[in-house]
Amino acid sequence: MDRKRILTGDRPTGKLHLGHYVGSLKNRLRLQREYECFFIIADLHTMTTRPDKPSIQEITSNSRELVLDYIACGIDPGQCPIYLQSAVHEVYEMNLFFEMLVTVPRLQRIPSLKDMARSADLQEMPFGLLGYPILQAADILMPRAHLVPVGKDNESHVELTREIARRFNYLYGEVFPVPDVMVGDVGSLVGTDGNTKMSKSLNNAIYLSDSAKDVEKKVYSMYTDPKRTRSDIPGTVEGNPVFIYHDAFNPDRSEVEDLKERYRTGKVGDVEVKQKLARALNMFLDPIRDRRQEIAEQYGRVDEVLYEGTMRARQEAKETLSLMKRAMGVSGIWNSISRKAEKAQKKREAHGGA
Ligand code: TRP
Repeated sequence: MDRKRILTGDRPTGKLHLGHYVGSLKNRLRLQREYECFFIIADLHTMTTRPDKPSIQEITSNSRELVLDYIACGIDPGQCPIYLQSAVHEVYEMNLFFEMLVTVPRLQRIPSLKDMARSADLQEMPFGLLGYPILQAADILMPRAHLVPVGKDNESHVELTREIARRFNYLYGEVFPVPDVMVGDVGSLVGTDGNTKMSKSLNNAIYLSDSAKDVEKKVYSMYTDPKRTRSDIPGTVEGNPVFIYHDAFNPDRSEVEDLKERYRTGKVGDVEVKQKLARALNMFLDPIRDRRQEIAEQYGRVDEVLYEGTMRARQEAKETLSLMKRAMGVSGIWNSISRKAEKAQKKREAHGGA
């Protein structure tokens, strides 16, 4: 029997950090053997909040960093295609068909879109940003995925995808599985400053590609229990970022329990807790950094991975789009005219014309 499918991925906005790891990468890694996985580099989505030219120019290097992060974490591109969203043109077409199935008020109720507009300093909602989750639905339905492992902030987008799939199937006939969402372990990891969310813009992130020295520096300046001005004052473990990280990344459970016990009773200094955390984090990150470097040293390897993944995604997209069109009854004149135009254009190009 064919394996069920996963589609997931990220916007190429920069390097991935520990929050991404806990919130979604961890799930994805666990599932990549059980499911047939597709990983999207959602470059079109970055344009919904950053359509300016300098941002567009950053997409190239950010996409390459993202591919490196994926492979470094253990995603196997031989098993799971990693592809560039903008290079799969069928998705633009699917997006348009899905736009007909969603109302504006439905989109206006999605809180993450308002959050994104606010953090991008946009006074009013751009049409493209309002349509963000519809484009995401096109991504997910493109390979007819069954499961979408994402961070908490994307849960409502998958919910909309489910509605679109149901609506499409109801109007035109069964084409899509209604995909399930899987939300990462910790909805979002706290930042090093104690802020509820680790994020690049808040400058409180530890990156998967940070050097061991950087990790130490960031850990030593981490926010802990502010009431603990001396190490003999009993401290609070719950909600304390240092212990949240210990829980998430230190495999030595007895060390963690011992530290917590001594912290609660005022028998350990912050320095020791942080030293042990930095060591645990660096042990976790070492193999990731090594793999990253190994791939980065192979000239052209990242682009080759993206190219191969994109070819695979395109094949799937073509098939789904044609299933959609057949179901919708969009065949007749639409297809005959566009096919004829395409043929003629190819012929002209082959003869060296414009
Ligand atoms: N919305 C995701 C993000 O926040 C990126 C994304 C685009 C995505 N299309 C997707 C995630 C499809 C999962 C599935 O970065």
